[in-house]
Amino acid sequence: MSQNHSHDDAVKFAYWVPNVSGGLVVSTIEQRTDWSLEYNQKLALTAEKAGFEYALSQIRFTAGYGAEYQHESVSFSQALLHATTKLKVLAAILPGPWHPAVVAKQIATIDHISNGRIGINVVSGWFKGEFTALGEPWLEHDERYRRSHEFIQALKGIWTQDNFTFKGDFYRFNNYTLSPKPVQKPHPEIFQGGSSRAARDNAASVSDWYFTNGNTPENLKAQIDDIQTKAAKNNHKVRIGVNAFVIARDTEEEAKAVLADIIKHAHVEAVHAFGDAVKQAGKASPEGEGNWAKSSFEDLVQYNDGFRTNLIGTPQQIAERIVELKSVGVDLVLTGFLHFIEEVEYFGKRVLPLVRELELKQQAKVA
Ligand SMILES: Cc1cc2nc3c(=O)[nH]c(=O)nc-3n(C[C@H](O)[C@H](O)[C@H](O)COP(=O)(O)O)c2cc1C
Repeated sequence: MSQNHSHDDAVKFAYWVPNVSGGLVVSTIEQRTDWSLEYNQKLALTAEKAGFEYALSQIRFTAGYGAEYQHESVSFSQALLHATTKLKVLAAILPGPWHPAVVAKQIATIDHISNGRIGINVVSGWFKGEFTALGEPWLEHDERYRRSHEFIQALKGIWTQDNFTFKGDFYRFNNYTLSPKPVQKPHPEIFQGGSSRAARDNAASVSDWYFTNGNTPENLKAQIDDIQTKAAKNNHKVRIGVNAFVIARDTEEEAKAVLADIIKHAHVEAVHAFGDAVKQAGKASPEGEGNWAKSSFEDLVQYNDGFRTNLIGTPQQIAERIVELKSVGVDLVLTGFLHFIEEVEYFGKRVLPLVRELELKQQAKVA
């Protein structure tokens, strides 16, 4: 078995598609990452060769907080699928602007064109200004998740049943039959995420995968245990993906210096504005356990608390921390980088083989 070859229970890797300008950090630091199609197609090819299984595109309908330009997620994902042969691409979908009938139809077609390589990430919305700009009602926190729950139920119904009938508070279908159905069975994978109780409850009942912000293994364990306990009661299977901003360098000092430099060049005004928006969105959850509830200024320099996961150091340190994440129930690490193409390549060559080695050692211990 080659070192990069993954076994069944091997931790999987995804990367954030930089389909928005400014990369993954709210910082004016020089970046060789680019939001163009040309750059992204090259990156996608590099990533699939490096051993990444998934790419996650983002959706933002309006500019803001350091992301001035952004390509739409479904059409951009389709372009990345066209350029690759193995990579699975996840398109971010925002209920509200998108109706499940449109998503079901579009994704079924892309599933056929790509030979079963499309998936979706249903996001529930944190950006009130975006909804106001689009003239869309901004629902209360838990109502946003109730809508996402119905949205996912509707998608699954359309993708798997003929004469689908559904009477929800947000969506209604009457004897609807989609044809053709997607290639992937039972349906393309559905990711969904956050941190709040409402996000976790959706994960424990309807999502195939739960995505969450960067965090420490202890805090992740608490979230994952809660989800998996509830999922078991619901007889539902869900897997877990966590965000991490990776800074892998030959020495720990170099890696730490890069982090310090990113933070030194933080776009202070944009970080504060982003922080105000996301904290408002999170506080609106009844339990106050939203994604960014405890984020510091430094955490917020990376959109999804990716520094907190601490995959910052040498390849060996990072590999050990990834295996630790796996031990608390993480199935997938969603990575972001400063200079994507070269760092994805480095990750594939230097970090991934060490992860596979450590995983095999652990398996041997258990056996
Ligand atoms: C990995 C990940 C990716 C996300 N991608 C997007 C996105 O592309 N667009 C968006 O509007 N929200 C995105 N979100 C935000 C979530 O949908 C959700 O609104 C946010 O995490 C707040 O969740 P909470 O209220 O449960 O804390 C993403 C969240 C995570 C964890």
